[in-house]
This record gives sequence, C-alpha cells and structure tokens, in this order.
Amino acid sequence: MDTFTEGLKTNPVNAFLISLVVVFLTPILWTIVHQYVKVLRARGIPPGPAPLPVLGNLGEILSSPKRFDEWCLQKAKAYGGMFSFWMGDQLFVYVSSYEAVKEVLVTKDKEFASRPLMPERVALTLGPKSIFMSSYGEYWRQARKLSVLHLLSNKAVKTNASVRDEELNTLIGHLKEECKREGGIVEPREHIIRTNLNTMMLPLFGIRFPAPTEPGFNERREALYASIQESFRQMGDFDWGTVLPALAPVVNRDVRKTTAFRDRELELLIEEHRAAKEKAGASFVARDMVDVLLTIPETEDLTLKNLIYMLLDLLNAAVDTSGVSIEWTLAELTRRPEIRKRLQAELDSVIGRERPVQEGDIENLPYLRAVIKEHFRYRGVGPFPGPHLNEVETTVQGYRIPAKTQVMVHTRGLSRDPSVFSRADEFLPDRFLAEDVDITGKDLRVLPFGAGRRGCPGIVQGLAVVHLAVARIVQAFDFELIDGKDIDMEERNWGLQVSLRTPLKARFTPR
Ligand code: HEM
Repeated sequence: MDTFTEGLKTNPVNAFLISLVVVFLTPILWTIVHQYVKVLRARGIPPGPAPLPVLGNLGEILSSPKRFDEWCLQKAKAYGGMFSFWMGDQLFVYVSSYEAVKEVLVTKDKEFASRPLMPERVALTLGPKSIFMSSYGEYWRQARKLSVLHLLSNKAVKTNASVRDEELNTLIGHLKEECKREGGIVEPREHIIRTNLNTMMLPLFGIRFPAPTEPGFNERREALYASIQESFRQMGDFDWGTVLPALAPVVNRDVRKTTAFRDRELELLIEEHRAAKEKAGASFVARDMVDVLLTIPETEDLTLKNLIYMLLDLLNAAVDTSGVSIEWTLAELTRRPEIRKRLQAELDSVIGRERPVQEGDIENLPYLRAVIKEHFRYRGVGPFPGPHLNEVETTVQGYRIPAKTQVMVHTRGLSRDPSVFSRADEFLPDRFLAEDVDITGKDLRVLPFGAGRRGCPGIVQGLAVVHLAVARIVQAFDFELIDGKDIDMEERNWGLQVSLRTPLKARFTPR
C-alpha cells in the first residue's frame, strides 16, 4: 500500500475531503468535456473564430474594446458575411450578406421564426409569455393576433391618433417650459419617453403619467412610471445569470425588486378595471385594451396574467424603439443645421407655422419621410433585430445550421454596406428622394422593423409617432449645438435598443 492510500485510511478527514472534491468536480469536468465535444463535433457549420472550452468565444467578445456589432464586423471581414461563434455551448450564426439574410428572413422565414430561451432579466421584465420572446407556435400566434386586432391594425392606430396629437402638444409645451427655465438648454429625452409611454398607456391601461409640472401629478403613479422605465432599462444589462445560473438570484436582485413593485401596481390597476366592469354590468363598454382583455374567456395559455404581460411587452416594444429613433434623429439634425432648415422650409410651405403638423400631412412631406428613412437606414434602433432560432436542423448558403442555433441578422451591417448603398457611412436623406426604398420589410436593404413572420407588428404606430414627433419639434423650434461643441454620438444599450450614451442636449429657440 503506498503512502497516499495509507494516509487516507488513517486519516478519515482527508478521505472525506477527497470524496467531496471528486463528487463535485466530476460532474463539472464531465460537463466541460461534454460541451467541448459538442462544439468540436459541430461539422459543416459556417467558419468562425476558434472557441475555448466552457466559454466558447465569450471571453474574446467581452474583453474586446469594441462594441459587439463592431466585433462582428471585424470577424465578417475575416470570414465573410456569414460566420459562427459560441457563447458557452450555444452556437450563434451571424449573417449580413444580402443572400444569407434573404435565406433566413424570406426563403426560410418559417424555419427561423422561433426565439431562444429568455435570459432571466428579460423573462422577469417582459413576463414568461412575451410575444417578442415566445417560441413560434400557437400561443405566440394568438397573442400577436389579439394585439394586432385591438391595437395595431391600421384602423386601431387611426382611432388613437387623437391621443398622439394631444400628447405631442403636451411634449412641445414641456420643451418650451424647459427652454425658458434653463436659458434655452434643453435635454429632450425624458420628455420624449414620457410622451411615448403616455401614447401607449392610454389605449392600453386607460391612464397617463402626468409630468411633475402638470396638474394631476401623483407620487404613486410616478413610482409606477419610474419602475416601468427602470425595468426596461435593466433588461439591457448583460445577464451574468445566463453564464453562471447559480448566481442568477443575486445578480438579478435589482430586476426582481423593480418588476415585483411594477407588477403589483399594475395588478391593482386591473382590479380597478374589473370592479368598474362588474359595477357597469350589461351596460359595460370597453374603453381600453385591459377592458377588452377582461371580456376574453381565459384559456390555459391566455390567462389574464399572461395577457397583462402581453401589454407590458407591447409597451416595451413601442416606447423606447420610437423614443430612441426620435432622439437619434434630433441629434443628427442638431449636428446638421442645413437638413433641419430644409425640413423647416418644407413644413412652412406645406403647412405654415400656425397649425401644428398632423399625421395626415406626412404623405405630403417627402423630405421629412426621407430624413426618417435615412435615420432607420443609418442607425435604426439597434444593429440587430430580435434573435431568430431554428427548432430543427437546416442549411443556409449550403452551411449546416444545427437545431436551436441563434441566428443574428446584422441589418445595420447590410444597410451600411458600401456595395449596397453608395456613401453608406454618411447621413444623406437625399438618397431616398432619388430612390423610394421600402423600410417595412419588403426591401431587405433597410430593415428597421425586421421582416417576415417575426417582423414588427407595430410598424404603422411606430412610424406615425416618429414622423409626427420629429415634425412637431422641427416646426416649433430651431435647435443647435451648445457653443459649437459636437454631440457625443457613442451608443449604449438601452433595454433591447441602443440609445445615445449621453442624452442629447441642445440650444433650443422657439420659432
Ligand atoms: C420605431 C418604432 C419601432 C421599431 C423600429 C420597431 C422594431 C422592431 C424590431 C426590429 C422587432 C424585431 C423583429 C425581428 O425579430 O425580426 C420588433 C418586434 C416587435 N415589435 Fe416593434 N418596433 C417599433 C415599434 C413598435 C410598436 C409601436 C409596437 C406595438 C405597440 C411594437 C411591437 C412589437 C412586437 C410585439 C414585436 C415582437 C414580434 C414577434 O416577435 O412576433 N413595435 N420591433
């Protein structure tokens, strides 16, 4: 017997410790080996950077000084407009070449219409049955149909035009107040987000969030407003719980706290709706989406709770997407006074300065439409639409795509490709006066709303809000850089979108 085994026999504490190490280490080592074998065996997939055991390419991505989309562009230079990489044992495929994007979003749209499992942060924020994150299937179909029918159809969007009109009047009022109070220096972000949230809260929940300077301001409602905003923002932070699930309860404690408060307040709001419905009896008339949902018979999937989460999902999908689009466009106009002045000349000649521009005017404002289109081509709400996933194995451009691969369509990569648009890296609205490109999913060169089955169902509402908000602000104000100092145009994750890292601040002068 050697001294090691002799030692074990005579020292039971050592033996216990070693058994403990073996019991805990073996499954970990087994998982590492199993995962790495899975990675190494993935033959026929698109080429890509070599993955490491456990982390895959995560270490390289997280330690890169570049933003994730820039890291992708750098790899695309080496591997082409389609390459693969790994985060842990999850395979990702990046596509930005026109042909590969077409195959994923058009030819094989149905095969790539699912979504990956949600990280805990997203699940807590959007709820377990979010339309955005639901797998392709019956629940997703029903929830999407319900929201289109009652909120997002052309007819429903038109019905809510008066809400947008009033909220935008309020927005201009707030900007004027701030302009007066702060000697002309205005930071529009908070006002824009509140306006967008109110244009959705009224048709969905029947309430709005008055600003602190408005009559009807109320601390409790403001706390709900803050928690909705905060939960959407927290969702964009990297979820370490996906890499280290054991740490999820600790690292996501902040999101749990925010969403618990938010959900409790929303449930109370729904209880108020229910009580009003019961009181009204047969004379009940639905005034908002919660009222409509209260009349739908519950099924196993379509429970009231899930439907309420669906509303939050719609809020999230609507508010910041339109909000960041408005702020980015204003930032471009602040840096480019010649574009703002041309827009003002168009508004002055078509509408004049007395009457505020209306949604019905947009079709007569070609330069406004070209500016908004250029924003969506140049920047959009982010470099990628939602993640797509195939439930069964398939191929793209002849490469094998194993089941449950996450496919990331780099829409911005495509719309900034110099072989797709000339002077692609410049903000030039005139290009869309020369060529009227569709941006609603039919022309793959500019895809701010995605395309195919998972494309955005809120396009009509989103475009109405962005056009009208930009037009109203440009009609009401001149705005310029403060003391000629350029704006910080760096991007930062904001929920599932990217916003300006530093909120836009400019010198505003009422016209
Ligand atoms: C400027 C405004 C908006 C932009 C740029 C935008 C963009 C997008 C994008 C890129 C996607 C993902 C598409 C994909 O994964 O392929 C999406 C999905 C979605 N959007 Fe929008 N959106 C906007 C406004 C809205 C509005 C106003 C609503 C509703 C009120 C809305 C509701 C949704 C929903 C529910 C989804 C999930 C669709 C699904 O997974 O089936 N969006 N949006």
